[in-house]
Amino acid sequence: MKNCKRNILITGGAGFIGSHVVRLFVTRYPEYHIINLDKLTYAGNLANLKDIESALNYTFVKADICDFELLEELMKKYKIDGIIHLAAESHVDRSIKDPFTFAKTNVMGTLSLLQAARSYWEALPEKYEGKMFYHISTDEVYGALELNIPEGDSETNKCGGGPFGDRFFKETNSYNPHSPYSASKASSDHFVRSFHDTYGMPTIVTNCSNNYGPCQFPEKLIPLFINNIILRKPLPVYGKGENVRDWLYVVDHAKAIDIIFHKGKIAETYNIGGSNEWKNIDLIKVLIKVTDKLLGRTECEDLDLITYVTDRAGHDLRYAIDSTKLKTELGWEPSLQFEEGIEKTVRWYLDNQEWLDHVISGDYQKYYEQMYQGR
Ligand code: NAD
Ligand code: TYD
Repeated sequence: MKNCKRNILITGGAGFIGSHVVRLFVTRYPEYHIINLDKLTYAGNLANLKDIESALNYTFVKADICDFELLEELMKKYKIDGIIHLAAESHVDRSIKDPFTFAKTNVMGTLSLLQAARSYWEALPEKYEGKMFYHISTDEVYGALELNIPEGDSETNKCGGGPFGDRFFKETNSYNPHSPYSASKASSDHFVRSFHDTYGMPTIVTNCSNNYGPCQFPEKLIPLFINNIILRKPLPVYGKGENVRDWLYVVDHAKAIDIIFHKGKIAETYNIGGSNEWKNIDLIKVLIKVTDKLLGRTECEDLDLITYVTDRAGHDLRYAIDSTKLKTELGWEPSLQFEEGIEKTVRWYLDNQEWLDHVISGDYQKYYEQMYQGR
C-alpha cells in the first residue's frame, strides 16, 4: 500500500484481543496500512479476522517475534512507524506448566521487537520523531489485592459489580508478580520502559484487567465455561471460587488502545479496567443463568455442573483497576454494562458453534498449516 498516512505493525493480531484491535484500526483508519504479525500459535486463529482479511489496507505476516532478523527486514519493508505489541503467551495455567515458553515469547520476543524497532528508527534521518512503540500488558504484574469489603457496603457487594476491597491497582503501584505469566509480562514492561529511558524510544505501556468477549480461546474462564455449559460438562471452579477479577468487554479495551495510541503521552503508563469486579462463583452463576436462558433450558438447571477442584498454585486473590488517569486525561469510558456484555458474549459463542468446534478439535490449525506450507 503506497502513500498511506501510517504503517502500523500490530503483533498478535490473530489472537483474542489483537483481532479486535486489528479490526478496529483497519475499518476506522482506511488511510493507515495495518500489518498484522502473528506466529499463529494454538491461540492465533485467522478465522477471527475473516470479515476484514481482504481489506486493501490490511496485510497478514506469519512470523515469530523472536526472529530478530526477520523483524528488522519487516520494519524496513513496510516502513513501520508505529507498533502495537500484543503477541504473547497469555494463559496463567500454561505458564505454570511451561514457564520457559513464557520467558522466550514474552521477554525475549518483546526484546527482539524493541531492538528491531530501535535499529530501524535510529537509522532514519528523523529518528524517533512520529514513532510509537505501544506495549500491551496486564494488571497481573501488580500482584494481588486483599479481599476486604468496606463496612456498611456488604449488601451492594454481595454479588457482582464490587468493589470487594478499598484498594485498587494504580499506575504508581510497585510490581509484585506471582505467576510465571505475570513475571514474564512484568519483565517485558521493564524492558519497554528501559528503551525509553536509555535510547529515547517513544514508548507507552498499558496494564489492563481481565477481558471477555467474542473469539477468546476456550481455555480462559468465560469461554471454557460457556462451552462446558452447552455440552453439559463439569465446570471446574478453582478453590472456593472466591477469587475476584475485574472484567472488561474486549471491544472497550480495543477502543482504549485506539485512544491511547493516538493521544497518550510518551513514557506514560495507563491502567485500563472495567470497574466491574466479580467473585468467580457469582460470575459463573450468571453465566449459567444467561446460557440456560438463551439455550431455552429451564433457568439455572445447570447449576449442578459446578465442580470445586484443587486451587491454582499461587492463585491471586483479587485484581481491581483504578482507571481514573485514563478517564480524566484521555476521556475513555467503557461503553457496555456487564449484563449487556455477558449476554452478547454468550450469544456470540452460541451463534458461532463452528468456530468453537474448530478451535476445540484443533481443525483451525490444520487448515492454516496447509495454507502456509512452504512459506
Ligand atoms: P491470546 O493468547 O488470545 O493471543 C496471543 C496471540 O499472540 C496469538 O495470536 C498468538 O498466535 C500470538 N503469538 C504468541 N506467540 C507469538 C510469537 N512468538 N510471535 C508472534 N505471535 C505470537 O492473548 P490475548 O488474550 O489476546 O492477549 C493479548 C495481549 O494482551 C497479551 O500481551 C496479554 O498479556 C495482554 N492482556 C490480556 C488480557 C486478557 O484478559 N486476555 C488482559 C490484559 C492484558
Ligand atoms: P482466567 O480466565 O484463566 O484468567 P486469569 O487467571 O488471567 O485471571 O481465570 C479467571 C479466574 O477464573 C481466575 O481466578 C482462575 C479462575 N478459573 C477457574 O476457577 N477455573 C478454570 O477452569 C479457569 C480457566 C479459571
